[in-house]
Parts: sequence; C-alpha cells; structure tokens
Amino acid sequence: MNETSTPRTDLRTWLITGATSGIGHELTLQALENGDNVAALARDTSPLDETARAHGGRLLLVRTDVRDERTVQGAVDAALARFGRIDVVANNAGYGLFGAVEEASDAQARAVFDTNVFGVLNVLRATLPVLRAQRSGHVLQGSSVYGQSAHPGVGLLAATKHAVEGLSDALAAEVAPLGIKVTLVQPGLTATPFLANLDVAAGLDDYDPTVREVQKGIGELPATAFSAAARIAAGIRAAVDSPNPPLRLALGASAATDMRSALTERLADLDGRQGVTDAMDE
Ligand SMILES: NC(=O)c1ccc[n+]([C@@H]2O[C@H](COP(=O)([O-])OP(=O)(O)OC[C@H]3O[C@@H](n4cnc5c(N)ncnc54)[C@H](OP(=O)(O)O)[C@@H]3O)[C@@H](O)[C@H]2O)c1
Repeated sequence: MNETSTPRTDLRTWLITGATSGIGHELTLQALENGDNVAALARDTSPLDETARAHGGRLLLVRTDVRDERTVQGAVDAALARFGRIDVVANNAGYGLFGAVEEASDAQARAVFDTNVFGVLNVLRATLPVLRAQRSGHVLQGSSVYGQSAHPGVGLLAATKHAVEGLSDALAAEVAPLGIKVTLVQPGLTATPFLANLDVAAGLDDYDPTVREVQKGIGELPATAFSAAARIAAGIRAAVDSPNPPLRLALGASAATDMRSALTERLADLDGRQGVTDAMDE
C-alpha cells in the first residue's frame, strides 16, 4: 500500500460552537485543513458559506443559538445524520461583560451566564449521550485566564468562566470511566473580535480609579500583547492530538502568569491561616 492510499486514522468529526469568529473560526479552518469533518454552529453561519462550498460535505453549517436547547439538539442531530459520530466537542461560544460587579444589571449578569454557562450545559446535554454511546470523545470547555483569576472589571465574565471550571472538574471525573476526555481551554488575551463584542456596564464614578483604569489599560495594549487566534487554535488541536491531554490548558504567557499569581495567592491564604482553619476541628 503506498502512502496516498494508506487510510488515515487521525481524522475526526468536530462540533464547534461560535465557529464563524475568532478562535472557533480558526479551529474550524484548521480542522478542515487537516482533513477532518466539522459541524460548525453559529447564530449566523453565512460567513462560512464560501468555506462550505470549498470543502463540500466535510463542513456542515447549522444555525444555532447555544442559549436555545432545541436548536442545539437540532444541530447535534444534523451532525450525526451527516457524519455518523462526533469526536470533539468545542464548547467555544461566549462573550464578555466588562464593568464593576455592582454596575452590571441583573439582565446583563443573567444574559452572560445564559450564553457562557447555560449554553455550555445545553451543548453538554445534547452531545454527551453521543459520546457515551461511542465510549469515546473529547470535550473542550471554553474557559479563559479568567477561569482561575480576575481583576477589576471582569467579575461577571470571571464568574461565568469559574462556573465552567468548577463543573468541568466534576464532569471530567464523571466521564473519564466512559472513555471521554475533558480539557478546559484557558487562553489569555487573544486577537479576535472578543473586545469589540464586549457588553459594557458602567455608571458609577467610584469605580473610575479601578475598573475604568483597567479598561483604559487594556485599550492601550500593543498588538503584541495579544496571541494570534491561529496559534490558540493550533494549541487546542495539539491537546486533542495528545494521547494524554491535560484537564487545564493555559494558552499564552499572560494567561500562565496571571493564573500562577492567582493560584499562589489562594495557596498563601490557605496556608497562612492554617491555625484558624485547624482550630475548627479541635
Ligand atoms: N479573545 C480573548 O481574548 C479570549 C480570552 C480568553 C478566552 N476567550 C474565550 O474564547 C471563546 C471564543 O471567543 P473569541 O475570542 O473567539 O471571540 P469572538 O470572536 O467574539 O467569538 C465568539 C463567538 O461566540 C459566538 N456566540 C456568542 N453568543 C452566542 C450564542 N448565544 N449562540 C451561539 N454563538 C454565540 C459568537 O457568535 P455571533 O457572531 O453570533 O455573536 C462568536 O462566533 C469565548 O468563550 C471567550 O470567552 C477569549
């Protein structure tokens, strides 16, 4: 058998949310480039029309709002009908809310949880039955540097990503015996339309020296402070290719630095008050 006729065993079927923009778009393009199948989910799939024409049946476009469980289930059904299986679920769709915790309205807070947390749960409930039946699959959970750290202005965004991290710790242990892997994807600042798509809460002068200063600082960052989305997508694909993928995948030096500092502070709090902690049990 010559090289061109050797069947490839590394080809996969991906289901990717938020597939028309930023990291999800890069992941879609790179998976297709590798020869994989992709079910690309987005509220408006038209930006991928041209790509779909170029890749024939290997790219399935499904209009999906991750907040709507019925459209998510419809997308999973369509992916199964086209490809017969799902190997990688990229729970990537999400957006940011910037402002002081007190400034975010109830509607803004619920809306960001609706997409970033309940959208993730909708995708999990629709795809895990497929992965369990296969006894294989890899779930990529869209977290962030803010899944392990936070600073002024990102409290609500960090709350959604911390929620995804907490549920994913349990999920990973629950599905590992069923042959399913889970990886929390934790990018740092990445050059995508994410900042342009931010919902912004404001209004209280008292937060100008903290929240607005941080906002100004982010606005003044040089382009070099942001990782390229293509590199983030390549890092994610490397984890999927790995026989032993990590539960947490920090992508970008800034993500690693900020998370290390937050985790070190947490350990210092735990260790620094050990006397008080232990006194509860004497
Ligand atoms: N960029 C960063 O600096 C950064 C850093 C850490 C983590 N992340 C995370 O990476 C993921 C991808 O973000 P990105 O940077 O690639 O930003 P992006 O370019 O704004 O892409 C976000 C995608 O999510 C989709 N989306 C939002 N709400 C949706 C909904 N209700 N239903 C379906 N799709 C929805 C958007 O689709 P529409 O076009 O329909 O809105 C868009 O395609 C997010 O989870 C984000 O939190 C980003």
